[in-house]
Amino acid sequence: MKITIKTLHGLEAVLAREVESLGGDNIKVANRAVHCEGNLAFLYKVNYQLRTALKVLVPVHTFTARNDQQLYDQIKAFDWSQYLEKHQTFAIDSTIFSEYFKHTKFAALKMKDAVVDQFRDKYGQRPSIDTDSPDVLLNLHGYQDQFTVSLDSSGESLNRRGYRGKGHDAPLNEVLAAGMLGLSGWDPSLPLIDPFCGTGTLLIEAAMMAMGLPPQTLRETFGFKTWKSFQPMIWTRVKADAHAQVRKKSLMISGGDIDPKAISMARQSLKSLKIRDMVTLREISFEKHFPKTRSGFVITNPPYGERIGTNVESLYEAFGDTLKQHYAGFDAWIISSNKPALRKIGLKDSQRIELYNGKLDCEFCKYDLYAGAKED
Ligand SMILES: C[S@@+](CC[C@H](N)C(=O)[O-])C[C@H]1O[C@@H](n2cnc3c(N)ncnc32)[C@H](O)[C@@H]1O
Repeated sequence: MKITIKTLHGLEAVLAREVESLGGDNIKVANRAVHCEGNLAFLYKVNYQLRTALKVLVPVHTFTARNDQQLYDQIKAFDWSQYLEKHQTFAIDSTIFSEYFKHTKFAALKMKDAVVDQFRDKYGQRPSIDTDSPDVLLNLHGYQDQFTVSLDSSGESLNRRGYRGKGHDAPLNEVLAAGMLGLSGWDPSLPLIDPFCGTGTLLIEAAMMAMGLPPQTLRETFGFKTWKSFQPMIWTRVKADAHAQVRKKSLMISGGDIDPKAISMARQSLKSLKIRDMVTLREISFEKHFPKTRSGFVITNPPYGERIGTNVESLYEAFGDTLKQHYAGFDAWIISSNKPALRKIGLKDSQRIELYNGKLDCEFCKYDLYAGAKED
């Protein structure tokens, strides 16, 4: 079957590499997505094992429409009973970029009417809507007059791994963290330090990656599990195959933060994954946090100073000094939406990648730290 895997802006190439390593066929990179082909086992596998995927969609119906009536007719003409039973619930997610359809929600409503009317006409009974936990989640994507309806095989977005508790106000999206690790070229045999680790997202993703621990280890619900076509035996085998590859090894992954609450949340997340001893955590300010090795990677997400009245430029300046004085031999990668503050690091970046942390337009910058590194 054809499969479309959605990701965040800037992570498409990392995702394509992951898809290839899991055995995807006919891989094509698109904007915030990767298209590929695979069988049912592959569909389950990508949901379970991809680290940089947000959603795995299976396109089932494509058509052209320029107004609500055409959209309704095209949806109604398709046989939805292939995927949905009358006693089941469904919901629709929609994204539309079109001069013909200005109101995305209204188009989704039209689609819902068409599906419901088809069932009512055919069976005198209709599936009901459940936006919280539908049996079948449909995805309507429109670009100008070109529409695709897909089955959403993931359900809840795949960044929700299930290891994170509530509480921290600025945690990194798990998919973004995994993507940053992929973009950085960090190799799990090398030390990794996050001096502003907060709840530890980067470190947790790194440890899971290094051990080959599937990102969805803790997750029970996936969209495909309530499909008519669900094959429990294939699913069990996919999970068993993935876990057979997990390797407990000694890692050099560590982090620090000044907020004891954040550190304790990071510990809790590691504990829930049963990998508490894979990551070293300390309550410490970055100014006193020095590496124990001569080389490695710093990958970090310092505060952006988004809150009115907070000035983080001096923090970035001091962080730049710490990197220069204590991290010679390391590759440092910093993500921030605060571009003036990034310039205060006082080092010339050798790579700059545009990423989005939620709605914030960020730069993910690489600094090659060598002895005596100076501002260019
Ligand atoms: C944007 S948050 C990092 C979030 C983290 N990536 C996560 O996923 O939870 C920035 C963190 O920097 C920490 N921080 C601020 N000043 C610090 C300092 N001087 N030394 C170490 N950490 C600091 C804050 O406590 C906060 O947890």
